[in-house]
Amino acid sequence: MIICIGAGPGDIGYLTQRGAELIRDADVVAGFEAVLNVVRSLIPETARVISMGYRDQVEQLDKVAVDHHAGKKCVVVFMGDIHFSGFQYLERVERACGHPVESLPGISSAQILASRAKVCFDETTFITFHRRGDLEPFKRHLVHVLQDQRNAIVIPCPWDAARSFMPWHIAKYLIEQGIPPSQPTEVWENLTRAEAEWHGTLAECAEREVSDMSIMLIRTMAPMASQIEPAP
Ligand SMILES: C[S@@+](CC[C@H](N)C(=O)[O-])C[C@H]1O[C@@H](n2cnc3c(N)ncnc32)[C@H](O)[C@@H]1O
Repeated sequence: MIICIGAGPGDIGYLTQRGAELIRDADVVAGFEAVLNVVRSLIPETARVISMGYRDQVEQLDKVAVDHHAGKKCVVVFMGDIHFSGFQYLERVERACGHPVESLPGISSAQILASRAKVCFDETTFITFHRRGDLEPFKRHLVHVLQDQRNAIVIPCPWDAARSFMPWHIAKYLIEQGIPPSQPTEVWENLTRAEAEWHGTLAECAEREVSDMSIMLIRTMAPMASQIEPAP
């Protein structure tokens, strides 16, 4: 058996009960070191822990797949929710195993941000730049989302200098594409742990560096009016 589970945004209090149960019952628990650290207190002493980073993830996932095919109960833990900025890792797990793998959703950093910043999903689009491959279609989509007067929740890309697309790069890019420099912008860091929040404009965001553990909210300039029934 193998299952991929969302470990939540960082504080173990946000892990689902089902996720905790699966970890407590596992023979093998695998994931990136930072995510394993979130669930460490639940991992049985008898379980094999397979830790990995960006460089060795493919080889380490091959070890998990061997244990899975040997009949061990394996859990692969993902940061936040698997379904936002987690699918490439899921693809690697499935490639290592040679078949589709079951998943259990977790609470995403995007959900915590939506709750802190009081934005509703219906009027918001989620975009991640934290992925391998061509970012151009995602950049264009972000411009269209803002032109379409929707909010955007954006995960930046913190990798090497050549590829990095952090909040200040994103803000500069959007201004170059004609998005108003006065567009309201927020950056939230380390949600559910040592939280920090910043509120300003796109132009101000372009001048500020933030940590890798950041998520951005770009608010529409024209929030939707209420569409519920008139008050009595
Ligand atoms: C590969 S993405 C995974 C996102 C995850 N699947 C989720 O649903 O939150 C990792 C990036 O998400 C953002 N992130 C994850 N957890 C966060 C948190 N607690 N606070 C702020 N940003 C977070 C950071 O930008 C981080 O570099």
